[in-house]
Amino acid sequence: MHSYFDRLWAQIEPIGRDASSGGYRRFALTREDHTLREWFAAECAALGLDLVEDRMGNQWAWWGDPDSEPGVVTGSHLDSVPDGGAFDGPLGVVSSLAAVAALQEKGFQPRRPIGVVNFGDEEGARFGVACAGSRVITGALTGERALGLKDADGVTMAEALQKAGRPADIGGDDETLRRVGAFIELHVEQGRALADLDPSTSAVAVGTDIWPHGRWRADFSGRADHAGTTALADRDDAMLKAAMFAVAAREEAAARDGESRCVATVGKLKVTPGGVNAIPSHVTAWLDARSSDEQLVLATIEALEQRFPDVLTQESWTPTTHFDASLTARVRSVLGDQTPMLGTGAGHDAGILANAGVPTTMLFVRNPTGSSHTPEEFAEADDCHRGVDALVAVLEDLAGDS
Ligand code: GLV
Ligand code: MN
Ligand code: MN
Repeated sequence: MHSYFDRLWAQIEPIGRDASSGGYRRFALTREDHTLREWFAAECAALGLDLVEDRMGNQWAWWGDPDSEPGVVTGSHLDSVPDGGAFDGPLGVVSSLAAVAALQEKGFQPRRPIGVVNFGDEEGARFGVACAGSRVITGALTGERALGLKDADGVTMAEALQKAGRPADIGGDDETLRRVGAFIELHVEQGRALADLDPSTSAVAVGTDIWPHGRWRADFSGRADHAGTTALADRDDAMLKAAMFAVAAREEAAARDGESRCVATVGKLKVTPGGVNAIPSHVTAWLDARSSDEQLVLATIEALEQRFPDVLTQESWTPTTHFDASLTARVRSVLGDQTPMLGTGAGHDAGILANAGVPTTMLFVRNPTGSSHTPEEFAEADDCHRGVDALVAVLEDLAGDS
């Protein structure tokens, strides 16, 4: 019954895995991305689904005609953060295909179209903006701005699209969104909430909301000079400013962290000129700030702006996302009233679609390590199978007779 899931999982497991770290490097518009997209297209064809790409190149595979009636869509993303885990994203895509295969095998006839989506560039690992695929089609990120985003080597998204042989006329796509009557994204849990419950409790939870979060770029200038011959007193070291900023971000978040969580992270730096023996003349630091309370994250940024005037540029902002109450309740009633409900501090394409007015909810699969964005991220095979079963039941309900 679950051999289809196991087979697909084994097929994608080696793609983009780094031999030394064991983590994944599957970045937008790279060879790995291309290989995964081709794999997705081939598996959709094998299931007899009709594959279309939207104006950002996100892949939508349809069982039935979504122009006759908006469909029930499930899916997720296949890209990763640097040295990411195997499950964040791919679990949702593989589970969705496995759910469709299971429905076909049992002779299910959908009364509403069913879609499986592979969103591109969810992590924003290469061009800096998370959920770029869903942001562009919903208009949360204009095509023009997306095209100008640069990766760490200065390659623009426009150039990367051209190199990948992909259309560059990216932009909002209402026609695609009109086809989506409901979106359910299955995802590995990125914390320990389910793992900390009694093991006999469901391995699958239903999502409630996503914390507000944003990304900012912080630019610090100094003066390049020799690391051996320049006296400490004569230095203008951009790295020291960036380091103080990272400490300040932690302090400001910690000052607000309490019953409502508040977190801030500097996880990426670009150092110029980047020589071990040269004092940095410029450092760009990227800040990710989130809280379960929108006011706390905004206050954290305001405090940082006061301490470090004129260095911050906002790259993305996603307000609090509440999943559709009636869809969430219906999904929960399908899975049983004991099913845990979970909010999440992680961002998802589901949040972008929800904020664009698409009825949306999520399913989370238990992760015994509670870790994510690291090779430690994990889900037991049995729990992955429970996730597929949950998706089958939900799709049967939403796209079936009732
Ligand atoms: C994506 O996983 C994010 O939460 O940044
Ligand atoms: Mn992620
Ligand atoms: Mn994800």
